[in-house]
Amino acid sequence: MARIPSEVIDRIRNSVDISDVIGHYVQLHQSGKGFVGLCPFHEEQTPSFSVNEQKQFFYCFGCGRGGNVFQFLMELKHIPFTEAVAEVAQLANVDLPSQYLNNGEQNTRQENNTPNGKLMVMHEETAKLYHHILMNTPAGAQALKYLKGRGMTDELINDFNLGFAPEQRILKPFLEQKINDYQLLRKSGLFVEDNNGGLHDRFVDRVMYPLRNQNGRVIGFSGRVIGKVPAETPKYLNSPETPIFNKRRTLFNFDIARKEARGTSKIYLFEGFMDVISAYSAGVKNGVASMGTSLTEEQVGILGRAVRQVDICYDGDSAGQNAIDRAVTLFRDHQPQGMQLRVVQLPAGIDPDEYVQQNGADKFAKYLVDQEETPVDFYLRFYRLNKNLNNQTELISYLEQSLKLLATLSSSLEQDMYLTQLAKEFDLDKATLKSQLQDISRQLGRRNRHSQPAALLQNDGSPAAISVVPSSSPAPQRNPIKRTELAEQLLLRYMFHDQEVWDHVAAINDFHFAHERYQTLYLLAESYFSEHGEYSAAGLMDYLKEDSLRSTLGQIEQLNVDDVVNMQLIDDCVQLIQEQIPLSQKIKELQSQIREASSLNNSELATQLTMKLIKLLKKQQELKAEETN
Ligand code: UTP
Ligand code: MN
Repeated sequence: MARIPSEVIDRIRNSVDISDVIGHYVQLHQSGKGFVGLCPFHEEQTPSFSVNEQKQFFYCFGCGRGGNVFQFLMELKHIPFTEAVAEVAQLANVDLPSQYLNNGEQNTRQENNTPNGKLMVMHEETAKLYHHILMNTPAGAQALKYLKGRGMTDELINDFNLGFAPEQRILKPFLEQKINDYQLLRKSGLFVEDNNGGLHDRFVDRVMYPLRNQNGRVIGFSGRVIGKVPAETPKYLNSPETPIFNKRRTLFNFDIARKEARGTSKIYLFEGFMDVISAYSAGVKNGVASMGTSLTEEQVGILGRAVRQVDICYDGDSAGQNAIDRAVTLFRDHQPQGMQLRVVQLPAGIDPDEYVQQNGADKFAKYLVDQEETPVDFYLRFYRLNKNLNNQTELISYLEQSLKLLATLSSSLEQDMYLTQLAKEFDLDKATLKSQLQDISRQLGRRNRHSQPAALLQNDGSPAAISVVPSSSPAPQRNPIKRTELAEQLLLRYMFHDQEVWDHVAAINDFHFAHERYQTLYLLAESYFSEHGEYSAAGLMDYLKEDSLRSTLGQIEQLNVDDVVNMQLIDDCVQLIQEQIPLSQKIKELQSQIREASSLNNSELATQLTMKLIKLLKKQQELKAEETN
């Protein structure tokens, strides 16, 4: 493989805009002269990832990664430089002569020669064939009539490339003349195999919905029975799992929805393909659906990385509400940070497709906006299912359930709003509800703290307690850890087990552990908390990928500490740690941050940092003066 000449590389790099390329993978928002978003390379809640269009590079203030468009793709996709160049060349429509490419290129033209690429080409040819049969042949007439009867226009059918797989098994001869590779045909999932290894068209007499991957390539099909569904026949028949089709990772219409969402940052999650298509026809093109199976963890991850907000929009009947509950729970447990979840519950017994058919596009679009609610709103209604709230016992159990839910909210303003709502609706004293909520919050907090049985040993809580010895080390440690490290361990120990301590420390401006190891542990625990809600030492262990961090956490968990938190001790730890960070190091860090901020033209941040720097420089001068006196 020849080396790509540098002028070719320059030309390719200059022919794209880095924010367009990155915008494909990261939701970017205009900020000053550049764009900001959540960094794709590390977990974070507030955006520290910035893209500078003028200089055509990206930089993350959080993790320090930065570079140009090629480095972005290399880092993101773990691909070599030439592949990144090839990918950008393709986006820019610049021809990159093949002598510069090796085989496993991500680039479509090249990819078509890989086994998976060939499978996609096979699916695309198949989709074309089925579409042609639907639109232009007598064999497809009945199916076409069925789709038209469901309100579909030619344009819509074309947009989704819908097709028809006829009674006669025509796919095998059609594909065989193009691809003479039995193993590949067999792997495609487009055929069922008989006992003798003979292949027969899998889809027969069905309306065909091509399924596309995130890049818009066809990777599978779902085929629907025309009209009424006979007993014992699946309404939709889906492609089996193949090397290119993984149901758990596929979302119907995701490639289009993601592009559409660049304006709104929002995707609607529907239950079925027809819902997505109807919503699309009503102008709501940012809709997706899972693949028949209920929503998966993988799909939640994919959605969360793509957009800021997901609206779950299911049928309002009790099955639908249970499905919403499942989906909300899945999002709560697995959604990436910073993503918002909303629910739009349709009237009972009506799916979005039926709503559009009955009420028209405009009403549907309006409904989606008007009926959007928070998951809490949804649950306050959901908990009422099958309860008779006129009955005192059932009402109390409903209120308890609801207060438990409110206790999980981090915003006290939000809590207060819902308390007002509940008090009003059931004519109750709000103060009573509030004190009950506080009790529950305390109980939950205590339970979290005790989720990891702590070895208890009395200590007086004074700073001297920093000399605690790990309980399970049989022999006294040969290299006793220094005071600062013990302070760091102790502090983390209390922070992990007590929300109040965590909040107290997190609120300290510029707090930073003196040793990188503890700082890392702190940051990882932070992202663990926001994903899991409560602390478990074992859970956090799984979350840590590095052996050394796991061993540090182990050390921390083995400390013998008093269960009762002494805030004075916490403050002493904090002070001790902060004193250990040398002034010169802080100054150096600030200076480099300022350089970065100004190179990104973030003058606001640069000014803020400079003010801090000035303070530190003054302090340094004072100290020097003291020394010389
Ligand atoms: P629905 O039964 O709600 O289908 O199943 P629908 O979208 O309303 O379709 P129409 O209006 O009857 O044509 C919801 C989803 O569940 C999956 C499909 O993904 C469907 O879109 N499903 C359903 C299957 O995979 N197989 C089935 O047999 C039925
Ligand atoms: Mn339907």
